[in-house]
Amino acid sequence: MQTLALQGGSKVVDRPLGKKWPVYGREEEKALIETLHSGIWWRGGYPDAKASKVGQFEDAFAAYQDAKFGVAVTNGTAALECALKSVGVEAGDEVLVPALTFVASATAIALVNAVPVFVDVDLETLNIDPAAMEAAITDKTRAAVVVHNGGYPADMDRITEIAGRRKIAVVEDAAHAHGSEWKGRRVGAIGDMGAFSFQMGKTLTAGEGGIVLTDTRELAEKAFSFHHIGRISNRPFYEFHRVASNLRMTEWQAAVLLEQLKRLDEQTETRERNSTYLARGFEAIDGVRAIRRDPRVTRWGFYYWNFHYEQEKFAGVPMARFIEAVQAEGVPVRAGGHGMPIYRNPLFQSMNFGRTGCPIRCPLYGKTVDYTRTSCPTAERLFKQEALALPHTVFLGDVSDMDLILEAIGKVRRQADRLR
Ligand SMILES: Cc1ncc(COP(=O)(O)O)c(C=O)c1O
Repeated sequence: MQTLALQGGSKVVDRPLGKKWPVYGREEEKALIETLHSGIWWRGGYPDAKASKVGQFEDAFAAYQDAKFGVAVTNGTAALECALKSVGVEAGDEVLVPALTFVASATAIALVNAVPVFVDVDLETLNIDPAAMEAAITDKTRAAVVVHNGGYPADMDRITEIAGRRKIAVVEDAAHAHGSEWKGRRVGAIGDMGAFSFQMGKTLTAGEGGIVLTDTRELAEKAFSFHHIGRISNRPFYEFHRVASNLRMTEWQAAVLLEQLKRLDEQTETRERNSTYLARGFEAIDGVRAIRRDPRVTRWGFYYWNFHYEQEKFAGVPMARFIEAVQAEGVPVRAGGHGMPIYRNPLFQSMNFGRTGCPIRCPLYGKTVDYTRTSCPTAERLFKQEALALPHTVFLGDVSDMDLILEAIGKVRRQADRLR
């Protein structure tokens, strides 16, 4: 039997898997040079803002995600803040957010002076549990940030039904979900608004960037104003209507994104093909399994691919030990769902909200929050022992990469007894 790499044997994978990220070529180079020589490096340099590269990208990406309107911004965190403000979240409001996500899904809520309320997740999908979401609604709840974790769409049927009935807004955090579909419709504007990130690791990137999508003209106009220092369309340039920041995307970002968007379909299809192959391969290995895919998830564009670890079936090897052993074999597996539940961060555990404690100790809010008491048992369980993930880049090659991953995990499985 081959010795495990962790115990001094040779690795199964001794070359990078998939593709180096980001993927780019002459097209991006040409677009950047064109922007340079145009002498117009921001969207405001065009009499018609839609003629700018930013404007073109907004239309192209909104159409790509089946949304009517898009407002491009500096990054995904800014997109969430902009969306939350646009749907009317203000000081004293509560906003629901799943416990398993990237911290920005929650901090964006605090950044608009509202109170993040953590909600437990679904054991199978890692996404917000609709029943837990409904149970967390109070008379202070204004909105829910619904994350499509790892790009796997949350249950938008139940979420929009609950939100409609309980009159709260839904902001989709689609930072991981470019190209993902729920029942044939792309995510991002199924709820009231959606926020995307184009940060360097994401499946559509310009290094940094973000966009807010919606189907509602009024919300799009608010987002436009919130991203443009409080201006509104078709009014004098030096006339301002609300307190707002400058969140404008540059022409450089849009130039790159327009080219990257042309690559996205092929890349998404490659990832889907390879992940389906890997999921099938997992069926022959006790202790690892793919998410049981809901047929309503008609397309899964993922930033990382979440899957399940079953310790009992893996001869009792703790997940942390499995991760160590598989990483040593050269496969970049890690804890799924962005790691530990967000409320466990020092920010929340030490209630580090500055001198005034705003927005948590806000007189407009008037309730007491203590995140040291927050516990979402399913999120905890997934983090500690069940959720694993692989980055999207390893799925950009061909099946030989998937075979290597299967070989590495199979090797570790065969020698599980030595790892306990
Ligand atoms: C779920 C989620 N939301 C929001 C963001 C924030 O995006 P950005 O890094 O572009 O600010 C990220 C970034 O990783 C994310 O993963």
